[in-house]
Amino acid sequence: MIKELDKFDLIKINELETSFHYVLKDVKSDLTNNPFSHYLLFIDNNRIIGYLNYYLMYDRIEIANFNVLEDYQDKHIGSSLLKYLIDNNSNVDNITLEVKEDNSKAIYLYEKMGFKKVSKRKAYYDGIDGILMERRMCSNMKDIYVLGIESSCDETSFSIVKNGVEEIATVISSQIDIHKDYGGVVPEIASRAHVRNVTFVLEECLKKANMTIDDIDMVAVANGPGLIGSLLVGLETAKTICWLYNKPLIPVHHIAGHIYANNLVKKMEFPLISLVISGGHTELIYMKEDYSFEKLGGTLDDAVGECFDKVGKIMDINYPAGPEVDRLAHMGDHTYNLPLPLDDDSYNFSFSGLKSAVINLVHNEEQRGNVINKENLACSFQDVVCEILTKKTLHAMDELSVKNLILAGGVSANRGIRERFKELCELRGINYTFPEIKYCTDNAAMIATAGYFAYKKGIKADLSLNAYSSMELK
Ligand code: KG4
Ligand code: ZN
Repeated sequence: MIKELDKFDLIKINELETSFHYVLKDVKSDLTNNPFSHYLLFIDNNRIIGYLNYYLMYDRIEIANFNVLEDYQDKHIGSSLLKYLIDNNSNVDNITLEVKEDNSKAIYLYEKMGFKKVSKRKAYYDGIDGILMERRMCSNMKDIYVLGIESSCDETSFSIVKNGVEEIATVISSQIDIHKDYGGVVPEIASRAHVRNVTFVLEECLKKANMTIDDIDMVAVANGPGLIGSLLVGLETAKTICWLYNKPLIPVHHIAGHIYANNLVKKMEFPLISLVISGGHTELIYMKEDYSFEKLGGTLDDAVGECFDKVGKIMDINYPAGPEVDRLAHMGDHTYNLPLPLDDDSYNFSFSGLKSAVINLVHNEEQRGNVINKENLACSFQDVVCEILTKKTLHAMDELSVKNLILAGGVSANRGIRERFKELCELRGINYTFPEIKYCTDNAAMIATAGYFAYKKGIKADLSLNAYSSMELK
């Protein structure tokens, strides 16, 4: 059996250092201090009989050293370790290593595994030349299938996405009906529902894709931000699959997922600005390139989605109220006077004042004995939200001279917001992409897509990965 050495597995670290003391030392500190360093172990009858130490540096791998116990030489253990390394790192551009020129047995093995001699280091090993060998990985030729898992709030979702662009299958089990009577998501109930759902949703997703876990190359999981109990259910499921089936584990920030939902519509072009509008977030993010996120500004209080839900509640609309407010808004006119919130030059937003203004307006009208026209109130509110979102986003785009815009998050399903952005972008010659309506709210297709690009950037976790209720997007 081949497995990657976990930095917390002190027993195996100790055994490795003892068995190979003549070439290895300080494995524990290497694993703790060098994030690029990894050890693959060949284990037979619970005993380490060979290892391969390599450095994974974003898009390339360097093999640092590589040994098999004396008694086990010539038993294909070295070639098994190399094959495992090659098969599990199809995303990298190349793998390099250095070998003594007179070690013809090793050179023969490397050549058999697809390595080629590329250069020589004169007298590198005590007078003997060192040969640098490289194996090109043709990473673009092999398809990569990512299994995505999303469970950060009230949706249990699994999805399989190919090469970060093509959705193969997605299953979403929503808990909306369970939480409806409470006027919002109840965390304890949500985690329990995730526990009940995960295995069924996973099975259904594989069935829909006509695939087995063996066909999957890696598992991407949203490990924050979100409800901690809910996140942990998805995370433990991901870890179990990775541990059982020896797959790489990729942590994905929930918001990175929302952003990458756009890549399923059209290849994202950089640099771009993403306006993230969801139940928990309102943020302007600048992306110079794939998987690089710079926050320009965000909400100082309530998120836009939260404001839609609270305003909807005043109008007796069930949670989540966004879609119904949106529907009513299209049937009404902008007749009520509401303030444009935080109308300044910053990239920050504030929505609690707008929410209070709606509450006060409704109370005042009621006290005067006037009946509120729900359609007109929804339209007036949505108009003000559209106005401030477009104003700040286009201001950021002007200042940073960015020509590509994407929307992300549950609120980007809003018809009014989409229409306003479309109109303004077309007027100004800005390229825009909106996520498909079904992937605006939480789903695992967006996590699998983001996971593919995270992996390409060298982001990978071990089984000590944790979940976080709040987490910065970096
Ligand atoms: O992205 P999401 O599923 O959850 C978070 O990550 O927070 O977004 C859910 C939010 C809810 O607040 C919901 O009311 C809002 O998205 N939403 C909408 C619309 N559809 C969903 N808000 C306005 N208009 C919509 N059409
Ligand atoms: Zn979300």
